[in-house]
Amino acid sequence: MIAKRLASEPLTTVPVRHPCIGSLSVMQPGALHENYRNYRAETINRLDGPYGFVDRRANEQIAAQVRGDSALDLGCGFGSLVDHLRRRGFDVVGVDLLDDQVVAGRKRFPDADLRVIAAGTLPFADGRFDTVILKESLHHLAAEGDIDVAMAEVTRVARRRVIVFEPNPSIPLRIGRTLIGHVDPTCPPEMAREILERAGLQIVHVGYSDALAFPLSGGYVGRPILGGRVLFRLDDALLRIFGRSVAWRYLMVADAQ
Ligand SMILES: C[S@@+](CC[C@H](N)C(=O)[O-])C[C@H]1O[C@@H](n2cnc3c(N)ncnc32)[C@H](O)[C@@H]1O
Repeated sequence: MIAKRLASEPLTTVPVRHPCIGSLSVMQPGALHENYRNYRAETINRLDGPYGFVDRRANEQIAAQVRGDSALDLGCGFGSLVDHLRRRGFDVVGVDLLDDQVVAGRKRFPDADLRVIAAGTLPFADGRFDTVILKESLHHLAAEGDIDVAMAEVTRVARRRVIVFEPNPSIPLRIGRTLIGHVDPTCPPEMAREILERAGLQIVHVGYSDALAFPLSGGYVGRPILGGRVLFRLDDALLRIFGRSVAWRYLMVADAQ
């Protein structure tokens, strides 16, 4: 079961008028969680702009940590990571709740195995994948349902390793999000560590990245300003000097014990 609240159907809050209280939000079965209200299929075009550099670099960092031959990308979105791993010879499947994202991803990456799943159990046998990856999806699982139930399902299908790639809620990231009005739950590295350890996994690596490259790229929601691999060298230098306090992303790797 991926998440208790999402066990039967996806839920969302929808605004309604109440005669006594005025405006309020109620959970509505059959619709999507409000965290996805700004998701658009055309966002996929950002992969052709400055964000494309950042996304490719994230995929490279993640790929370097994958163990074994098979991988599941849980919350694959458009599926760029699935395609990246497929091209490198992995047996890889991407699953996501959002039909629009998967449909747009299939058009762009026709050879990638991208599937829409309903929230609930992952439709795979125990130990089906050597590695399970949560690229920018752990904060959703943690905020939108019972994360321990979700992780029990992740560790059921992951034989060797779980990789988490997440926004690092550093001060620069929080300021940046405030400036552009981007609201999204976060899962700080300390929280991710606890979640993974509670699931019986052992943390074997934590790394930080993206000091300037990410904000300058605009990510998926901000204004794209600048992109290019040269920014990564600058980022590496900034991270060496200032450490995780300037990082917009972190990568955590955990192994089955
Ligand atoms: C921020 S997006 C990241 C998409 C993609 N991994 C990327 O990095 O571009 C988070 C994705 O996780 C998906 N997601 C959240 N909870 C999920 C669940 N329980 N099962 C499958 N996908 C889920 C959402 O639908 C969304 O597409």
